[in-house]
Amino acid sequence: MSTLRQLFLANNAQTTNFPLLLEFERAEGIYMYNAEGKPYIDLISGIGVSSLGHSNPYVINAIKEQVDKYMHLMVYGEYVQTPQVCFAEKLVSVLPDNLQSVYFTNSGAEAVEGALKLAKRFTGRQQIVACLNSYHGSTHGALSVMGNEEFKQAYRPLLPGVNFIRFNNPEDLMLITEETACVIIETIQGEAGIRVPDLTYIQALRARCTETGTLLILDEIQAAFGRTGKLFAFEHFDIVPDILLLAKALGGGMPIGAFISSNQIMDALKENPILGHITTFGGHPVCCAAGLAALEFLLDNNLAATVAEKEALFRDLLVHPAIQQVRGKGLMMAIELENFDLNKKIIDRCIENGVITDWFLHCSNSMRLAPPLIITHDEIRKACDVIIKAIDFYTNK
Ligand SMILES: Cc1ncc(COP(=O)(O)O)c(C=O)c1O
Repeated sequence: MSTLRQLFLANNAQTTNFPLLLEFERAEGIYMYNAEGKPYIDLISGIGVSSLGHSNPYVINAIKEQVDKYMHLMVYGEYVQTPQVCFAEKLVSVLPDNLQSVYFTNSGAEAVEGALKLAKRFTGRQQIVACLNSYHGSTHGALSVMGNEEFKQAYRPLLPGVNFIRFNNPEDLMLITEETACVIIETIQGEAGIRVPDLTYIQALRARCTETGTLLILDEIQAAFGRTGKLFAFEHFDIVPDILLLAKALGGGMPIGAFISSNQIMDALKENPILGHITTFGGHPVCCAAGLAALEFLLDNNLAATVAEKEALFRDLLVHPAIQQVRGKGLMMAIELENFDLNKKIIDRCIENGVITDWFLHCSNSMRLAPPLIITHDEIRKACDVIIKAIDFYTNK
């Protein structure tokens, strides 16, 4: 075992007994390279982050320019920092009119925490509705709205007053009442194994929230920025949230999240008491500069418009008797296999053969596909060939 690996296992906190232990020296485009120069196709984008691929020169340049000017100056919300202002302005320009106030955070989970607090403050209500099989992050508030008991039972007591509904089940919408502060839901569920809701369901959810004065929080931490073929996933469904959550691809590879709402709702954080949400590093200027460059690159190159064709190509190529289903929208997909054992063996073989993929937290029999949006048709063919051969190897079908 390499010295670096030994040190990693000895001194870096471990979150499983079976880390992947891959070592990379550099990454560029859709590829990550190990010390021997072996390329691996990154089919998961570091879990939905590297949508522009790795080492995008435009983003790197923006980071370097900002580092030369200043890094951290002050906790969030006091100084007028150009990268924060320009990035918020750009985000607001591509969002519906009611989403005009951006609160930048450090991460997705912090955006979730801020949004839940904001919904309580604005509505004066205490109840929260969340979905079964949801994933919103790993902090206490985010865990409280996670729809999987196994991952949260060890941390109780969690937030009280959280009721769970079944995703995409219209019957449960009546559990949203005048007592509900907010519904928090992924527009397209990620860790559940990529579940796309019916149009009628999500529109009925929006209507029920409006009818009861409940804020609709759409978590697009995985699904935004072109991943599903639209800039934001809610655009597929002709609905608009009251609060939108972003992170992952938001920073072009740098750590940043955001919760975004109307000025009227966001103003609830300003008084009685002041400082409704406080963060030291949220909206770090270097991350904002990177995020702005990433969004400009995404828009200038119209990357979202290339996604539907790429999805179709994946679907054409991912045909095999052992594949039970290919689910998803755009380049946010899941390949369903018979069980976890088979899935894990196939994933490991893909990795051995230079294609990085993964399974889902709440859906272990499915393989994750979330490549950088810049992946070419040839690269899709190459990656699918490795996947199909790995499936063949273990199923002989
Ligand atoms: C849908 C969704 N929400 C929230 C989060 C939490 O984001 P973070 O890991 O940045 O805290 C994730 C992370 O995977 C996610 O997929």
